[in-house]
Amino acid sequence: MELLNHLNWRYATKRYNTTKKISEEAIEQIKTAIQLAPSSYGLQLFEVLHIKDIALREQLKAVGYNQPQITEASDLFVFCHYADAHSSKIDDYLALKAKIQGSAVEDLAEYGTMMKGAIDALSMEEKQIWMAKQVYIALSNGLMACASLGIDSSPMEGFDKAAFDKLLKLEDQGLKSTVILAMGYRSAEDDTQHQAKVRKPLEKLFKTV
Ligand SMILES: Cc1cc2nc3c(=O)[nH]c(=O)nc-3n(C[C@H](O)[C@H](O)[C@H](O)COP(=O)(O)O)c2cc1C
Repeated sequence: MELLNHLNWRYATKRYNTTKKISEEAIEQIKTAIQLAPSSYGLQLFEVLHIKDIALREQLKAVGYNQPQITEASDLFVFCHYADAHSSKIDDYLALKAKIQGSAVEDLAEYGTMMKGAIDALSMEEKQIWMAKQVYIALSNGLMACASLGIDSSPMEGFDKAAFDKLLKLEDQGLKSTVILAMGYRSAEDDTQHQAKVRKPLEKLFKTV
């Protein structure tokens, strides 16, 4: 299977070739793969910041354990989930669904009430965890899209979230940083690319019951 070749080829890149940039077209394709990720109820309670400001990336690196990928990679996405799952977000989704699928928004009212009831029953902490989980599915789509395009990538959680949120003014936007994705082309000097993949054997990972 072609996908398995791509998944074996990719690795969490540590050092990037700073002279090689991802094309606009490939970035659009990666964005579309992220857009197409499934999410709970289809709500997509997250947004992705594409950080183009080089000075800002330097500042983010300083609060990202100085990981070089943050500045060396061609492109950097910061995945953020909403600070709260406000009912207005569910209304936004219902309006979009009605528009795209050509139905009346009033016909979706009962569905909306059901979703809001289920979400309102969660504590703030549970909501945060639930929203963050959706982000990781989107991250995974991004990783797979990169690999299939021959683009290297680094999923990263090693950063100070509170400091990222402050630098990116996320509170004002009702967002919280979840995880970051650096993307570009591996440096020939990145020794990690030569290391064999460490994965549990399938019989340890899967149990037949
Ligand atoms: C959610 C997540 C967060 C990660 N955070 C970091 C990170 O901050 N820095 C880093 O060098 N690698 C990070 N990694 C990479 C993992 O260490 C790596 O995926 C794992 O060791 C398996 O290696 P491979 O992806 O190269 O096959 C992260 C991976 C994931 C999925």
